[in-house]
Amino acid sequence: MIHRDEPAGTFLLTGDGFGYALAVEPDGSPRHLHWGAPLDPADPPRLLADADAARIGSNTWSRPRAHTEELVTAGGARFDECALALADAPLDPRFVESEVDGDRLALRLADGPLVVTLRYEVRGPALVRGLELHNTGDEPVTLTRASSATWSVPWQVGYHATTLGGGYAAETTVRRVPLGPGKLVCESRRGIPGHAFQPWLAVDDDAGEDHGELWSVAVAHGGSWRIVAELSGDGHLHLTAGAGDAVLRLSPGARLRLPDTIGVYSPTGRAGLTHRWHDYEREHVLRRPDEVRPVLYNSWEATFFAVGHDDQVALARRAHDLGVELFVVDDGWFTGRDDDRGGLGDWRADPAKLPGGVAALADEVHALGMRFGLWVEPESVNPGTDLYRDHPDWVYRWPGREPTAVRHSYGLDFADPDVREWAFGWLDALVRDGHVDYLKWDLNRSLTDAPGYASRCHEAGFRAVVDRLRAAHPDLWLETCASGGGRADLATLSRFETAWPSDNTDAFERLAIQDGYAFVHSPLTMSCWVTDSPGYLTRRTVPLAFRFHAAMTGTLGIGGRLADWPEADLTAARTFVALYKQIRATVQLGRRWRLRADPDRTAVCHVGQDGGQVVVLVFARTVRQSHLAPPIRLRGLDPDARYRDTTTDVTYTGTFLTHHGLRPVLAGDYASSLVVLTRE
Ligand code: DGJ
Repeated sequence: MIHRDEPAGTFLLTGDGFGYALAVEPDGSPRHLHWGAPLDPADPPRLLADADAARIGSNTWSRPRAHTEELVTAGGARFDECALALADAPLDPRFVESEVDGDRLALRLADGPLVVTLRYEVRGPALVRGLELHNTGDEPVTLTRASSATWSVPWQVGYHATTLGGGYAAETTVRRVPLGPGKLVCESRRGIPGHAFQPWLAVDDDAGEDHGELWSVAVAHGGSWRIVAELSGDGHLHLTAGAGDAVLRLSPGARLRLPDTIGVYSPTGRAGLTHRWHDYEREHVLRRPDEVRPVLYNSWEATFFAVGHDDQVALARRAHDLGVELFVVDDGWFTGRDDDRGGLGDWRADPAKLPGGVAALADEVHALGMRFGLWVEPESVNPGTDLYRDHPDWVYRWPGREPTAVRHSYGLDFADPDVREWAFGWLDALVRDGHVDYLKWDLNRSLTDAPGYASRCHEAGFRAVVDRLRAAHPDLWLETCASGGGRADLATLSRFETAWPSDNTDAFERLAIQDGYAFVHSPLTMSCWVTDSPGYLTRRTVPLAFRFHAAMTGTLGIGGRLADWPEADLTAARTFVALYKQIRATVQLGRRWRLRADPDRTAVCHVGQDGGQVVVLVFARTVRQSHLAPPIRLRGLDPDARYRDTTTDVTYTGTFLTHHGLRPVLAGDYASSLVVLTRE
């Protein structure tokens, strides 16, 4: 809902559990007034008057109210981190007109020929802010900064930033650091969101799991991005968010829509923040948001590049016998792909490996009653392929220089319409002729040898190919992967049914990665595989139950060498998969509550959409004599209800489970427990 107070020049935007207010001042500058709890429509004019009072105390070194501009631009006495800057002139856009359309507000500003439109949209618990540039003049306009929004956080006693990140095989670790005066810059310059940070950041003063306020911002963009948290010396914090830095040239008449940024506020601590992000994703972002994801098998860790028709069929039979519903053949199925040095670009099934082609393998998988999926990496090419020989000009390279090889491949320029046409052509044929139901779309290199703005153009090209493919194959499912979780942003997740959060399948280490992924993203897209132990990355030995339980906190998959699994493990796996199918609607679509998240003990509980089923998973790295079985308090339960443990038949009250807790049976190292409760 949007309320406009015409005489005061204020706007109040109200969503599910939040309010956001801004004003247009008499001189036409847009002023930020509020982001936080919902307000009364009478409040914004009063806030504006109060901002005037604050001016009295402001110093003479900056513009009056310098820290509360709705969009910080470069020019005049402004010294804060700016969202927009011109190369050769100051920028001070002033109000031209506004338009309110339901839950949308557009504020049009202009400075000379450059028209800047600030776009706002209330979407459930989130506010979406975007920005559009239009060069109405006869000369080109050059920008040296083009972020999408300045988000102001209300004044706090102290500030902490929470980020989700790490690196390859260590993505999305939750970190909380104090902010001092100055800047925290989180970004990717890689042409994809990258592994170091999710394009997301949250700020709080003293919030905990259950209490306190948090303000968080995400950039919905699958390319390079940047979020800067700047705390001024006098205690104002703002977050500048958008696509990564680049010099942008707007030719006369050109319009440019910058990526959306999304702001979510929580008054109920970190748990509330997570739930609001999940609600936003489910209601406004994800594809097939109400459909549970199938149990998947992926061949990567079982066969790596040694793909063969008979071996894959044998794996598929075993996987099917365990209850798997979707069988995915990973890398290695096409010509020249015996390792990662060749093949990318020549997307023909290797006749020595798949004599009947992709379709023959797909048909056998279908005959078993499973869906069939295949791995692709459309944006890369290996030198030595026919594609590279025929089109050396399709790769990113600086004039006169050799392209940079990453994992032995070069980057294909998806901004080039010929490249996009080629990519769509073979993907379309592969899906149709290969009887493919599911594609795992991987990218194992960062964008190199291209100017900064190429990231924006590449991302737009990538989206265009994906959108065209989806339109041509409405039943196709997609998985996003970039060497694990390198491309799991909101723009990409709006096009892909599922994501591969990390190559790290060590169940113990993965708990932290999953915890961070699910901090903001719904478990519906969080693909988790049970693989062999010891795993190929960490060589840690983890029991099968722990591996299954860890994967059952998201979308369960299996990725082990099933031919080597002893009968006892296969029998246990069958039971785990069957149990998972009984709880997956709760895990994937219900409310997720973090109960414990420390290296020694992790516990999570999922409460089904109707509250009828509760799934509790507890993990201990080691069980100490002095600490045998502390009770784990559950969250999200109805205190007036009774819950029955479906294994022991013991019935508990909601108050007992909430205030005292369950005592799951844990023993030894890498111990885990899964408890399913049903509401009586
Ligand atoms: C990186 C992915 O994250 C892995 O799962 C696998 O698909 C390999 N690429 C294949 O090259």
